[in-house]
Formats: sequence, structure tokens, C-alpha cells
Amino acid sequence: MRLILLGPPGAGKGTQADVLAAHYGVPHVSTGDLFRYNLRQGTPLGLEAKGYMDRGILVPDDVTGRMVADRIDRDDAAPGFILDGYPRNLVQGEALEEMLRARQLHLDRAVAVDVPEDVLLARITGRRLCPSCGATYHTLYHAPRREGVCDRCGAELLQRPDDRAETVAVRLGVYRDETAPLLAFYRERDLLTTVSGLGSVEEVAARIREVLHD
Ligand code: AP5
Ligand code: MG
Ligand code: ZN
Repeated sequence: MRLILLGPPGAGKGTQADVLAAHYGVPHVSTGDLFRYNLRQGTPLGLEAKGYMDRGILVPDDVTGRMVADRIDRDDAAPGFILDGYPRNLVQGEALEEMLRARQLHLDRAVAVDVPEDVLLARITGRRLCPSCGATYHTLYHAPRREGVCDRCGAELLQRPDDRAETVAVRLGVYRDETAPLLAFYRERDLLTTVSGLGSVEEVAARIREVLHD
């Protein structure tokens, strides 16, 4: 199973990618999570990415593409992957096509998760992240058992630095201008399916499973 999840910030790509990855037994590959992981480890890649992420703009395509290629070449991705947050513009869409062609692989589907802007903002505002294990919560929709504490590892939950209102506005603009054109790109290739991202996590997951026919 080789799948792409498309959608604006806060649509629930990461949340749904986790569900799908567990279902298909393939890794959830999130470029945002990979950058944040590198930043926690203090790698040069993480430090480079931080400057862009803090402003809400895209990390350069070459840096991002190399990171994705390295990740999908790891053994656990041999049976497939759920890509979340990549590709993010038309150049990356072309780069991914080339990456897969070189490995004689193909994409099964691109699923676009559609959510209106007021709901996106509510989801982003309440999001909390575990800085230690990467688990995602929401203060209202997916609260941890103990307020402010990760269920999985006990670390103190934080808000993502790029979830501040000013940065969110930039990210939404970047989505509209740079990422949304990928919808037509995958529609032309007959790979695009759009699902509504409204409703509970389980409802959205069921909708995606239905379009994937299992
Ligand atoms: P990235 O980390 O990819 O952020 P994003 O695309 O802005 O998306 P989000 O992670 O904000 O939202 P999501 O759709 O994953 O939603 P989630 O599941 O968390 O990118 C961050 C930055 O990294 C970029 O700005 C850029 O700088 C850089 N970057 C990343 N990829 C790049 C690339 N390819 N090229 C260049 N730069 C790149 O859900 C949101 C909240 O809602 C959570 O709290 C969740 O619990 C809750 N929730 C989810 N589903 C539901 C539901 N059905 N009902 C109620 N609540 C829900
Ligand atoms: Mg995400
Ligand atoms: Zn944790």
C-alpha cells in the first residue's frame, strides 16, 4: 500500500495516517514529524528546517526530497508507506514520481482530506504534542487522561511553535498557493479521491477505508 494524504494544516492527516499505517502494517512517513525529530536530536537537517517551519513556509525541495528518499529506502517501507505532508507542491509531486519510477514502484492513491477553515482553526488551536514520543492530542477532541501529560510516555505536552495564529495564517496561505495545485495533478493521473474530514476520527477513518475498498 503506497498512499499519499493531502490536506490543509489541521485537517487530520497525521491522525488518519497513524490509523492507516496500523491497519496496513506500513510506516507513517510524515515530513513534518521527521523535521521535528531531527530538531529534537539537534541534527543539521533539523536546525536548517526550523528556520522555515517557525515561519510557516516550506523547507527547500531538495532537502525535503532527500529526506523522503532515505526514509522510503528503509527496510520497513518495503511493503509500502503512508505519506503525510509530502508532496507539498508541484515540484515535489514530480520528484516523488521520479523517486518511485527509479525504484519501479507506483502510488496506489492520493486521498485528500477536506475540512473547512473554521474547523481547521479549532483543531489546530487545541492541538498538543508530546515532545518526547511525538504523540498528538487535542484539548477537547482527544484529551490525554491527565491534563497536559502524555498517556504514552508521561512527558509534559506542548503546543507546536508553528501553531500560533500568525504562523497558522501563513501555513494556510502556503497550502492554498503551493499545495492545493497537487489536487489537479493527482486528478489528472486518476489517483485522487477526496473525502470529508468532518466528524470523529473513526468516522473519517471509515470513509477513507471505504474509498480504499477494504
Ligand atoms: P506538518 O507537520 O506537515 O504540518 P501541516 O501540514 O501544517 O499539518 P498539521 O500537522 O498541522 O495537521 P494534520 O493534518 O497532520 O492534523 P492532525 O492530525 O495533527 O508541516 C509543518 C511544517 O514542516 C511546514 O509548515 C513546513 O515548514 C515543513 N514541512 C513539512 N513537510 C514539508 C514538505 N514536504 N516540504 C517542505 N516543508 C515541509 O490533527 C490536528 C488536530 O486535530 C489534532 O489535535 C488532532 O488530535 C485533532 N483531530 C484530528 N482529527 C480529528 C477529528 N476527526 N475530529 C476532531 N479532532 C481531530
Ligand atoms: Mg501533521
Ligand atoms: Zn509521549
